[in-house]
Amino acid sequence: MKTPAILFATSEMAPWVKTGGLGDIAAALPAALRRAGYDIRVLLPAYPALRQAFPDAEPVAELPALAPALPPSRLLAAETDGLPLLLLDCPALYDRPGNPYLSAEGFDWSDNVSRFGLLSRVAALLGQDASPLAWRPDVVHANDWQTALAAAWLHYEGGAASVVTVHNIAFQGCFDKVMRSALGLPEAAWRFDGVEYHGLLSFLKAGLQLATRISTVSPSYAEEIQDEAFGYALAPLLRHRREELHGILNGIDDAIWNPAADPALATPYAANRLAAKRANKRALQQEMGLDVADDRPLFGVVSRLTEQKGHDLLLAVGDALPELPAQLVVLGSGDAALQDGFLALAEKWPGQVAVKLGFDEALAHRIEAGADCFVMPSRFEPCGLNQLYSLRYGTPPLVQATGGLADTVVDVSEETLADKTGNGFVMRDGSAEALLQAMQRVSETWRDKRLWQRIQQNGMRRDFSWRHAAADYGHLYREAVAARR
Ligand code: ADP
Ligand code: GLC
Repeated sequence: MKTPAILFATSEMAPWVKTGGLGDIAAALPAALRRAGYDIRVLLPAYPALRQAFPDAEPVAELPALAPALPPSRLLAAETDGLPLLLLDCPALYDRPGNPYLSAEGFDWSDNVSRFGLLSRVAALLGQDASPLAWRPDVVHANDWQTALAAAWLHYEGGAASVVTVHNIAFQGCFDKVMRSALGLPEAAWRFDGVEYHGLLSFLKAGLQLATRISTVSPSYAEEIQDEAFGYALAPLLRHRREELHGILNGIDDAIWNPAADPALATPYAANRLAAKRANKRALQQEMGLDVADDRPLFGVVSRLTEQKGHDLLLAVGDALPELPAQLVVLGSGDAALQDGFLALAEKWPGQVAVKLGFDEALAHRIEAGADCFVMPSRFEPCGLNQLYSLRYGTPPLVQATGGLADTVVDVSEETLADKTGNGFVMRDGSAEALLQAMQRVSETWRDKRLWQRIQQNGMRRDFSWRHAAADYGHLYREAVAARR
């Protein structure tokens, strides 16, 4: 079979628009596939950041209104490091500042159904005979609910094979049923095994039901979402399609996340030059207003502050930190209660706990480098990228055993030290006590500098680059093309 051509459809892409891991993946995976010889193009909205980054993007197609709720738009072509981008330009929908999903007040944009309805519709169109472009993908690869609906048009009208990747099943994109016709979906699609979901139009459900193949971002999460506790009401559908569901672990961009050549760090370091990591800890303590102490470990957090990430557990044990003793640095934004909780903790323990609210890419790198241990007590974690960055930065992660965290973090024990796989700390269960116990274990272990260095090096040696995952996606694309025929 010839190498399939791929359209990668996404609602965010680093460094221009990023709210979480999907942004990183949408930058790194297509680039890795291109290096592996795939003819791949990325479709995403022409948000202001992209218009600014690519002022000379060339109009390559004008699109009429494709349905009552979908205004006219056009496609602009650009390129980043040789990777072709298709920017979907529709100022009425995308030309606004801030977060791609939320208004400044923190609510979903009220026209998200049209914003991502159009993105999905155009992704499908580019895989169909009616496409305005001469280039035609063999596979349309949609990511999360914002593009998943593309699979519905490809299913009902024909065209390329489709792959839908679930990065987070908690976000499903459900809208009023009148949107079915407003988006121009055929009446025949309104079925329990079509786009309908408990009386609503669900973008993600439609994608998972109708895509040629489904994937998610770790083998464990692929199993977990077949279970009601993690897959919510979509678990039965995923069990039904289990033969067509693949778990492919995300990689990391090892050029951007490289402690030996990271422009955000004052002092670069590597597995064989770990002493230099200490300068990064001091610098981080200074930057964040923490006591510059080297007699206690520094725990780090960089995260969306939401229920998923389990930071309420960390707040519950926060007062025990100074006694451990240990310090904590937090960078994050999200739920008001969690933000306030961390601010209060920092106020109570000056010098020991420091918090910065907001999104700060460079500080995220400095925390990865300067912390001793990275904390992710997530309740669920489809893959998780921060534990991978931590492993690469010699900052052993402390995690709950779920999803991609379970697939990548190996608890330190006599056995796993002997076979050189032990690279972090896994909580025994999801309770605050278990978190505290694991933090105690970290503090004790950290005091044994030689042991700690072995753990750091076990993590730093593992290869989390995209090479493996790119090959796995290649198989998946071929399988989808063959199944579509
Ligand atoms: P998720 O996608 O669920 O948020 P991941 O671990 O996959 O979790 O990816 C999160 C990404 O977003 C990482 O690159 C992380 O560094 C980044 N990130 C999250 N919050 C912030 C923040 N406040 N400032 C900077 N980067 C952040
Ligand atoms: C989601 C998940 C995260 C994953 C990321 C990229 O945001 O919450 O676990 O790493 O997508 O796939």
